[in-house]
Amino acid sequence: MSSERPSGPFRIGDRVQLTGPKGRMSTTTLREGGELHTHHGVLKHADLVGQPDGSVVANSGGHEYLALRPLLRDFVMSMPRGAAIVYPKDAAQILSQADIFPGAVVVEAGVGSGALSLWLLRAIGSEGRLISFERREDFAEVAKANVETFTGDAPENWDVVVGDLVEALPDAAAPASVDRVVLDMLAPWECIDVVADVLTPGGVVLCYVATATQLSRVAEYIRGTGLFTDPEASETMVRGWHVEGLAVRPDHRMVAHTGFLITARRLAPGAVPPDVKKRAAKTPTYGDADIEAWTPGAVGDRQITDKQLRKRVREAQKHAAGARQASGADAHAGTDEEA
Ligand SMILES: C[S@@+](CC[C@H](N)C(=O)[O-])C[C@H]1O[C@@H](n2cnc3c(N)ncnc32)[C@H](O)[C@@H]1O
Repeated sequence: MSSERPSGPFRIGDRVQLTGPKGRMSTTTLREGGELHTHHGVLKHADLVGQPDGSVVANSGGHEYLALRPLLRDFVMSMPRGAAIVYPKDAAQILSQADIFPGAVVVEAGVGSGALSLWLLRAIGSEGRLISFERREDFAEVAKANVETFTGDAPENWDVVVGDLVEALPDAAAPASVDRVVLDMLAPWECIDVVADVLTPGGVVLCYVATATQLSRVAEYIRGTGLFTDPEASETMVRGWHVEGLAVRPDHRMVAHTGFLITARRLAPGAVPPDVKKRAAKTPTYGDADIEAWTPGAVGDRQITDKQLRKRVREAQKHAAGARQASGADAHAGTDEEA
């Protein structure tokens, strides 16, 4: 991962978030000779280079832009998406509840658009290792391009494996060699057995699921293995506040539901915890029809079409190429359009 601190005066290769007339936002990567063209005029990248983060600069039409380096939460919310992302409010809880620490060996599936991968990579630091699994190659391409765009290069401590976690994990990680596993997928219970094999005793598995029925199913599966502590579940609601003068009140709108988190810790081989009421695994009462009812389409999530996805892959790769070009030797002068 790039060792450059995201602070100090703007440099060539930096991503800069510009807020222009009427609060319209765009993001650009600073390049030698680069320009941002909008119907309000032209903003030369050279006018930003050397300015402190948080500066206001004017374009050729005299319109002013506030320039800031995007925070990770800004980047993930605006980056091209193949699959739905983990929102920053949940990513923060995932890092805490899964106890992601600098130097940790972490397995993640599926990689989707790479939003959670970025948070995990930041938390494990350069000493850690992240192995991300994704069964759709096109989603993996979007994720790799997004991570490269944000970090400025392909992190050496990040492996993306294209394949199903159940089949690919045993080849990618030795038994008891992984500190933490984070699953964000439709059917995490299908992966719990292979996860139990690679997790080190005391290691944490965390599943992020969208519906209560998935939560129930994965909880009972984890419990039924007898290989983990009793699972703990939660959801996170973050309500913004409007704070202006005497108008101090909660925002009228909020993101009410994204998903649930459930965590459990791997027991040592043969360990049976004291005082834990062991419940026999219930006979599964879920059939194919239930699983069909939990698909994103059935629960009302909008599904991306193949054509839209091809466009997102191109978009994400264009951003990554821009970031590469800006920081690399072959920097050609170029232009950006308003996002
Ligand atoms: C909601 S997305 C993940 C989003 C990602 N966490 C992010 O923040 O951008 C779920 C992904 O899991 C992938 N997936 C589902 N089951 C999988 C499995 N068994 N192995 C690998 N990937 C899987 C899907 O293809 C999909 O891309």
